[in-house]
Amino acid sequence: MKIMVTGGAGFIGSNFVHYVYENHPDVQIVVLDKLTYAGNKANIADILGDRVQLVVGDICDAPLVDKLASQVDAIVHYAAESHNDNSLQDPSPFLHSNVVGTYTLLEAARKYDLRFHHVSTDEVYGDLPLREDLPGHGEGVGEKFTTESRYNPSSPYSSTKAASDMLVHGWTRSFKVRATISNCSNNYGPYQHIEKFIPRQITNILSGIQPKLYGTGKNVRDWIHTSDHSAAVWTILTKGQIGETYLIGADGEQDNKTVLEMILRLMGKDPSDYEQVKDRPGHDLRYAIDSTKLRTELGWAPQYTDFESGLKHTIDWYANNEAWWQAEKAAVEAKYAKQGQ
Ligand code: NAD
Ligand code: DAU
Repeated sequence: MKIMVTGGAGFIGSNFVHYVYENHPDVQIVVLDKLTYAGNKANIADILGDRVQLVVGDICDAPLVDKLASQVDAIVHYAAESHNDNSLQDPSPFLHSNVVGTYTLLEAARKYDLRFHHVSTDEVYGDLPLREDLPGHGEGVGEKFTTESRYNPSSPYSSTKAASDMLVHGWTRSFKVRATISNCSNNYGPYQHIEKFIPRQITNILSGIQPKLYGTGKNVRDWIHTSDHSAAVWTILTKGQIGETYLIGADGEQDNKTVLEMILRLMGKDPSDYEQVKDRPGHDLRYAIDSTKLRTELGWAPQYTDFESGLKHTIDWYANNEAWWQAEKAAVEAKYAKQGQ
């Protein structure tokens, strides 16, 4: 099998490319990645060669996509603009990559009758009330997102991801594209860009900068290790039912304040040594995934069930790979400082 992995030089895409390279030696991989600020050739440099090829290009470039699509059996689509805060500053690249890009790939999948897996996010469902505000502290209906939850995105990022999911639905029904969709919760692990919450705080501490918490830090995210996400996507690609959506999550709900205090403690610092900064406009309160369908129908289960130990490994990775992030740190922090964050 030969697969095209879009966005395979970004955080989750590169972890998936490594996962397939290590676990499925019969699979050839073509990575199509524009190498935006979030993409980095170094993320896959160690495995580039006969089995893994990198093509630097835009998923909106229809002739390029057509040429590559004619040579593969499947597309696994990760490429996207992925950061909520950036989408609040300038939504236009989000429309380009997330909407037009997905359309361009779907047209190629339709033409060559390719298997298509679309990697999406739980954010398409908007947010959930905090458990403390739910009757019985959320032990009931509506406690978590399911495939029945209503689309209700909050930001330009999540609305463009919602739009891309809708395109996949339309192309599956009308043109019989053999597609599946997955909506996953917040990933953590190696190679995540330092603009994102966990790596930003780890690299702040490593750089002698006070960590930054938006608002009071009561917002809850449902953390999953990116390796578990990779295994789930592979399971859906190979065993999933065409036309179906699967939610991916590892029951990892934590509020931001708790995560930040855990990072500080694991790095030998005072857990209260952080700064509360301006909150994100429209900040989603809580995400939580019910992944029963994926677990019971396709037999997937997460391996990283101990968040604290996964976080410790992630801290070690950033501490041991300073050369990977150091050059960008000052510019990322200067951009946040301008936003009061
Ligand atoms: P990322 O920003 O780290 O990487 C995105 C990659 O896509 C980069 O390599 C970038 O160069 C590439 N890219 C962007 N626009 C492109 C274009 N027009 N053409 C070609 N390549 C382009 O993102 P990530 O966090 O790894 O997320 C990957 C995917 O997973 C996204 O679709 C995102 O919506 C989804 N997702 C992310 C999370 C998360 O927690 N990070 C959770 C659920 C789903
Ligand atoms: O739920 C899946 C989504 O998770 C993905 O679709 C997105 O691509 C991914 O970026 C992520 O979105 P979030 O907005 O949840 O992730 P982020 O890392 O930006 O922020 C996580 C939480 O931490 C959020 O509540 C905002 C908060 N935060 C973030 C930063 C950067 C802080 O408190 N301080 C910070 O410095």
